[in-house]
Amino acid sequence: MYKNVLVTGGSGFIGVNLINYLSKKKYKIFNVDKISYCSTKEKYKKLNKQNYFFFKGKIQSKLLIKKILRTRKIHTIIHLASESHVDRSIERPFEFIKQNIISTTSLYSSIKELLKEEKILNPNIIHISTDEVFGSITKKSASESYTFFPNSPYSASKASTENIARSFVETYGLKISIVRLCNNYGPYQFPEKFIPTCILNSINNKSIPIYGHGKNVREWMHVLDSCRALETIMNNFENKVNYNIGSNVTFTNLQIIKTLKKVLKKNIVVDHVFDRPGHDLRYSLNSNKFRKKFNWKPKYSFKEGLEKTIKWYKKNNSWIKDTLKNYQGERIGKI
Ligand code: DAU
Repeated sequence: MYKNVLVTGGSGFIGVNLINYLSKKKYKIFNVDKISYCSTKEKYKKLNKQNYFFFKGKIQSKLLIKKILRTRKIHTIIHLASESHVDRSIERPFEFIKQNIISTTSLYSSIKELLKEEKILNPNIIHISTDEVFGSITKKSASESYTFFPNSPYSASKASTENIARSFVETYGLKISIVRLCNNYGPYQFPEKFIPTCILNSINNKSIPIYGHGKNVREWMHVLDSCRALETIMNNFENKVNYNIGSNVTFTNLQIIKTLKKVLKKNIVVDHVFDRPGHDLRYSLNSNKFRKKFNWKPKYSFKEGLEKTIKWYKKNNSWIKDTLKNYQGERIGKI
């Protein structure tokens, strides 16, 4: 039996990778995506089209969401749709509040309304969040019960959507598991993010802009490891059980450049540019709960994942060209 899975934001970075991964298995996938500046167009997707259905539209469209839920017997919803770039949230905070908070509330309201009319089976919802909700962690790592301390409009909007998710579970009986991921990298990541910026600039012999001193620490995981983890959660779903999922592999931004130099075997010039306002110094997730419960660990080492990702960016010129229509490497995030 094929499981019917609705992915919101399935044309974004994690969404494209997740759908590629799931479409090779026994799932029927329904993707709702409005297609924004950083979306991957359908023609670039390498997936099994027989069990994939694309709906161009916003998750705020109750008509669209309700139509899919009424007619497709959705077993699981993986809610990925989100404005996700911290620098853009610094320039346009209101956009992030509108897109992330209002759209999530609208999605969950559609489900609540259908449940009241008893028109659908109550779907399992995996609500994707981020390590950034905990803010900068000075020591050790943040477990699932760590206090929220978001420092950017982006992370504040994500923390808010977690609260909205919880309220819809308690008040209206939705079934939700919240999953917080660390920094992901891999194919199809829009060039505004750090790893693609590093790869593309060094391939093109351009310097790499490093915000401030470059000692900010991030926890890096290959996106396919996130996809594996999400499939595990989907197949072992428990309402109200939340997970942090990280690689336990942390690097400063300057250390990333060092690894890249080794992998590419070339000199890379860095350019220390003005710092990101409110720049969090360190993220680190404690993902022991998930690891122990499912005997899980990431498959890809950072070096292996980076090599694979570099190969992908070298091979996918037409996809890169397409992104240039919306972004040409300019600095984002000025106040
Ligand atoms: O931690 C998970 C989060 O990771 C996700 O929830 C976000 O959606 C995602 O954007 C990412 O946030 P970051 O701000 O950590 O990612 P970003 O790639 O923008 O930056 C990573 C680090 O690199 C950060 O310390 C800022 C720095 N940076 C970034 C860019 C784009 C630079 O030094 N230079 C750059 O050009």
